Amino acid sequence: MKKAGMIIDKEYKIGQVDKRIYGSFIEHMGRAVYEGIYEPDHPQADESGFRKDVQSLIKELQVPLIRYPGGNFLSGYNWEDGVGPIKDRPRRLDLAWKTTETNQVGTNEFLSWAKKVNTEVNMAVNLGTRGMDAARNLVEYCNHPSGSYWSDLRRSHGYEAPYGIKTWCLGNEMDGPWQIGHKTAEEYGRLAAETAKVMKWVDPSIELVACGSSNSSMPTFIDWEAKVLEHTYDHVDYISLHTYYGNRDNNLPNYLARSMDLDHFIKSVAATCDYMKAKKRSKKTIHLSLDEWNVWYHSNEADKKVEPWMEAPPILEDIYNFEDALLIGSLLITILQHADRVKIACLAQLVNVIAPIMTEKGGEAWRQPIFYPYMHASVYGRGESLKPIISSPKYDCADFTDVPYVDAAAVYHDEDQTLTVFAVNKSEEPMETDMSLRGFESYRIIEHIVLEHEDIKATNQKNRKNVVPHANGTSFKSEGELKAHFTPLSWNVIRLQK
Ligand code: AHR
Repeated sequence: MKKAGMIIDKEYKIGQVDKRIYGSFIEHMGRAVYEGIYEPDHPQADESGFRKDVQSLIKELQVPLIRYPGGNFLSGYNWEDGVGPIKDRPRRLDLAWKTTETNQVGTNEFLSWAKKVNTEVNMAVNLGTRGMDAARNLVEYCNHPSGSYWSDLRRSHGYEAPYGIKTWCLGNEMDGPWQIGHKTAEEYGRLAAETAKVMKWVDPSIELVACGSSNSSMPTFIDWEAKVLEHTYDHVDYISLHTYYGNRDNNLPNYLARSMDLDHFIKSVAATCDYMKAKKRSKKTIHLSLDEWNVWYHSNEADKKVEPWMEAPPILEDIYNFEDALLIGSLLITILQHADRVKIACLAQLVNVIAPIMTEKGGEAWRQPIFYPYMHASVYGRGESLKPIISSPKYDCADFTDVPYVDAAAVYHDEDQTLTVFAVNKSEEPMETDMSLRGFESYRIIEHIVLEHEDIKATNQKNRKNVVPHANGTSFKSEGELKAHFTPLSWNVIRLQK
């Protein structure tokens, strides 16, 4: 049995949690849109062809924001192909994923669907094959009330009210040679700045995300951020971060330590934003949009065998296991620990494509193991992120040293007078954790939810809910002291209320 300690103090505040950190992402690729959210022939399809069973699962997650329509797909997308009469829409080759895009779902269908699942859309503009003209027109089409060419076109398509989309991404992963219209930092920085300027001239209320590096292993990482911000600092509000992890060498302690990599990544990008703030003598702070993050590796081999130019091929269909859910829990904790700086985060993606929700054509929809930590954080992790002071035994592994076995975040919700502690025990032994809860003396435990499994590789399949949480965790509280029992390799949610 191992022992850890923790102090959670009402006054140790990190920052208000922006609910958009529980965002997600739907790209026109694989079976995310077609056969994922949209399947007109499905018995559960609504009047517009969208699956109601999938909508219910998304509502369970309380997803506040969904990035759309890509991704790599974005950089070859003509948004005009996806508006107007559906029967007239062109079939196009998507060069990013080598598939055929039918354009049966486009801007209006997606935005209408988003309303049904109570989410905002984080709309992205193509800066690969297109540029500032298409981008400003899309803002006008979506957000301008009426009396102009593009807003009246929207109205003529049957969508009278403007959407008021607030958050927009300026392209996608423009530093990547795989990207259609890949650019140098100078080329992208100039284009992004000019595009940002005119988009905000059309609608000054919008917020913009500039592309950071595609991942922190890119050879241009951090120089890219610095150069892009040199051009865009005054015009944008966020810079993006993308990161995906995998347990390729089947080394569990090393895999679970990847949350330290995310922590380092966030700190490096935040430091670069602040360097630029100082250099520009600016009063403005650039915040971070971690708008693609997840585990992605299970499907890599299968994807090599997929035939090109199919409609909705089954690509990037990672079947997640219990150890992935543990890492997702730790990554969510890391995001909460940076609530002062990370204002948007999108779990990539939402349905079928590296997703918490899977569907079968004509059949079931089900929850992958990673669904649960994501849902718990989204539902219970709103309020003020507090900084827990953790004293945990530590371990060394292949890529990291001094990895704490216990990761934790705490969120205090003032109105509901609730405190939620999220914790991962990365040890194969149980962990007794003594917590001192300062300022929460009169709070009592409502429940202690646990996600655990004896088989670290356990998965969920249709009709087989293998990895599911239970609320039989053991923790005891008296006055300001809480004794928590974290079972080996477990995700824990301890909810307290006054
Ligand atoms: O989410 C899958 C892909 O990962 C996205 O299209 C791209 O932006 C990233 O490389």
